[in-house]
Amino acid sequence: MSMIETINLTKRYDSFEALKSLNLKIDEGECFGFIGPNGAGKTTTIKILATLLRPSSGQAMINGLTVGYQNRQIRPIIGYVPDFMGAYEDMVVTEYLEFFAAAFNIHGAQRKRVVSDVLELTDLAYKHDAEVNSLSRGMQQRLSVARVLLHDPKVLLMDEPASGLDPRARIEIRELLKELRRMGKTILISSHILHELAELCSSVGIIERGELLFQGPVRDVLKRARMGRVYQVVVSDRTGDAARLLEKAPGVASVSIGAEESAGSANGHYADDRVIHVAMDDDSGESHLDIPNRLVNAGFRITHFAEESVNLETAFMRLTKGLVQ
Ligand SMILES: Nc1ncnc2c1ncn2[C@@H]1O[C@H](COP(=O)(O)OP(=O)(O)OP(=O)(O)O)[C@@H](O)[C@H]1O
Ligand SMILES: [Mg+2]
Repeated sequence: MSMIETINLTKRYDSFEALKSLNLKIDEGECFGFIGPNGAGKTTTIKILATLLRPSSGQAMINGLTVGYQNRQIRPIIGYVPDFMGAYEDMVVTEYLEFFAAAFNIHGAQRKRVVSDVLELTDLAYKHDAEVNSLSRGMQQRLSVARVLLHDPKVLLMDEPASGLDPRARIEIRELLKELRRMGKTILISSHILHELAELCSSVGIIERGELLFQGPVRDVLKRARMGRVYQVVVSDRTGDAARLLEKAPGVASVSIGAEESAGSANGHYADDRVIHVAMDDDSGESHLDIPNRLVNAGFRITHFAEESVNLETAFMRLTKGLVQ
C-alpha cells in the first residue's frame, strides 16, 4: 500500500480546474520531489493532502486513510510545512515550539524533551532564546520543520522549504531532509527547481497546469528527456563558419550557437555567442571525435571542447515544453 496516493484528484476553483485528475503513488520511506513551474498546482495538491482543502472530485489518501473523511486520523501522522510561515510576534523559539507541542497534547517532561530534540535536529538549539521574528529566513524555515516534527509524523508534506534561501541555507535544509529520510519518514517536497531535489529524492513527479507529465525515478526523467549527447565547442574565431561546417557533419542532429537552456561547463568562461552546441544523433554510431577533427582539418583552432551535461534543469524544460512525450 502506498503511503500517499491520489486517484483522479481534481480541484476546481469556481470554473478553473487547478488539478486535473492527478494520480500519484508514493511508497513508505520514499522521498518524492514534486516539481512544477509557478501555478502548476503543487500547493493545491499539498494542501489537499494536508487536509486543509477539499478535493472537487477524486480521492487523496494518506496511509490508506481518505482525506475529507478521515482527517482526524490523518492529522497525527502528517507534518505540513507551508510555503510561508505566519508571523509570531513576541514569541521566542522555545515558546513557539512548546505552544505547538501543547496543541499536539504533548505535556510536561516529555514536552521539554521533544522540544529540545527537534531543536537539536534542526540545529537551532543555540537560538532557543531568540525571538522567532528575529530569525533569518533560513532559520525560520528550519523552525517550521522543527515544529512539524514535534509529534513525530510518518509523512512530511513540504511546500518549497528551500525557496528564498541562500545556497548555504539550502544545503542545510537538504542535509536536514536527508536526516529525516534516514529516519524512515515519507517525504513529499515541492520545488520549481529540479536539480535541487535530484540528489535528495528517490523519485519525482513533474506537474504542469494541473496535470502530471511524468512520475518515476530521477534517472528515468533524465533518460526520457535526453535527446542524444550534446557537445560544446568554442573556436578562436569564425564561430558561425565553424557551426555551418558542423551542421553538415555525419551523425550531427543539430547545431546551435549561444545560450542553451542548460548550464554547460563552458558558461562563465566564454561569452554565450561563442559557444557552439552540437547535438549528436545517438543512433548514428558516429564518434564525437569527428567534431574536433573536422574543425582542425578546416583550419579552426579549438579553445574548448566538452560534453554538455544534460542536467535535470534541461530535462525539466524539455518535459514541460512538451518536447518529450
Ligand atoms: N484560492 C484560489 N482561488 C482561485 N484560484 C486559485 C486559488 N488557489 C490557487 N489557484 C490557482 O490554481 C492554480 C494552481 O495554484 P497553486 O498555488 O497550487 O500552484 P503552485 O504549483 O503551488 O505554484 P507556485 O510555484 O507559484 O507556488 C493557479 O493557477 C492558481 O492561480
Ligand atoms: Mg505553491
